Amino acid sequence: MPLLSIDDRGFRPLDSRRRKSMALRLKRAKEAVIKQAEDGEQGWFFLPDDREMLKRVRTAVEDLRGFTDLLVIGIGGSDLGARALSKALVTEKTNGLRLHFAGANTDPDELSSLLKQLDLKKTAINIISKSGDTVEPMTTFLIVREALIKAVGKSKAASHIIATTDAQSGSLRMLADEEGYVTLPVAGNVGGRFSVLTDVGLFPLAAAGIEIDAILKGAKTVRDSFVREAADKNDACAFAASQFAYAEEGKRIQILMPYAERLREVGFWYRQIWAESLGKKTNRKGKIVHVGPTPIAALGATDQHSQIQLYTEGPDDKTVTFIEVDSFSETLHVPKSVSAIKPLAYLAGTSLERIIHAEREATAKALTLAGCPNATIHLSSVSPETMGALVMFFELATGISGELYDINAYDQPGVEAGKHAMKKILSK
Ligand code: PA5
Repeated sequence: MPLLSIDDRGFRPLDSRRRKSMALRLKRAKEAVIKQAEDGEQGWFFLPDDREMLKRVRTAVEDLRGFTDLLVIGIGGSDLGARALSKALVTEKTNGLRLHFAGANTDPDELSSLLKQLDLKKTAINIISKSGDTVEPMTTFLIVREALIKAVGKSKAASHIIATTDAQSGSLRMLADEEGYVTLPVAGNVGGRFSVLTDVGLFPLAAAGIEIDAILKGAKTVRDSFVREAADKNDACAFAASQFAYAEEGKRIQILMPYAERLREVGFWYRQIWAESLGKKTNRKGKIVHVGPTPIAALGATDQHSQIQLYTEGPDDKTVTFIEVDSFSETLHVPKSVSAIKPLAYLAGTSLERIIHAEREATAKALTLAGCPNATIHLSSVSPETMGALVMFFELATGISGELYDINAYDQPGVEAGKHAMKKILSK
């Protein structure tokens, strides 16, 4: 059974004229994505082959002996990947450090409450910031560092801290060098939102006891299929092409709706990679285009009782992509005794897995009936391999989409503008 497959029968096939021109555009897009990787411009494509990184991360994890908890501080690309994958993969059977996340907000109530819960004497801190200057994680880190110094003393505090940052520049690099933290690099040619398969995401995941080599293996499987298959036969390309074609028709709201609680955070990771990469004012020729789909993170079955009314009957401007987990880890059945309760009797003895699959299928049918294009990504199970495969699938789809939109999918001038404005306000 493949780790990941997509059933896109709910996406209308392009007419033959558009199919021909799309096949050519996809072929060129694929060549461009591979060329950017081979030229060293984009490092994310070759991450599944990086054995040296794997070794480095494992060595850093070995140094965590004696700690029970790891506080991961970061925002955006330095946060969402590890959050999503740890939510998916950490279970009561995982044998590693307890992970906590901070730095993605500057909410004093939230941080105070976390600091009250943590035993800093047994907690390691992983501050992640590629630039080393981002306000939210750096202010959080400086507050946590002060609390740590109070708890363990200045001389010991540095031995609790692992800084994942640029090898040369930024305030975090300066601090790390001055205070002697263990550091992990962030490759210059891997953008934040593409960095979950680097030290940024893999170190916290490995510390939590997750098999990171299996994550890379899953990513490699999908990357290698992309290289091997013709562009118009490849799933990630086909997904990017359909979403692009629908966006051109005005269906620019593109929802990702996993049917699994463990995949709840995947939607937030998808939201960032899709939005920050594809929402652009100018195209590659410098022409003002204001393009980009609006990604929405939803969750099945929960949002059937919240969002689906809008998706089914609201404006005709959406596509929905479900994620279905073909096989869950645990089995639970509705008690047979339910047959005594007449209105619920039809559920007696049914497994929850069957119910959640039926809910996805029913929602897909209702959307199709309402004319809302929908597709389903099938994961054979939730495992390190399938999560690596899912990450690579969306990274490839994003790279391909960038080419179809003819924009730079790897910069974020809109984010930078907000950062400058905030600095001005806070410097007054
Ligand atoms: O994808 C991106 O580049 C951004 O979301 C960054 O990850 C985010 O702004 C955090 O930046 P940094 O890692 O420099 O603190």
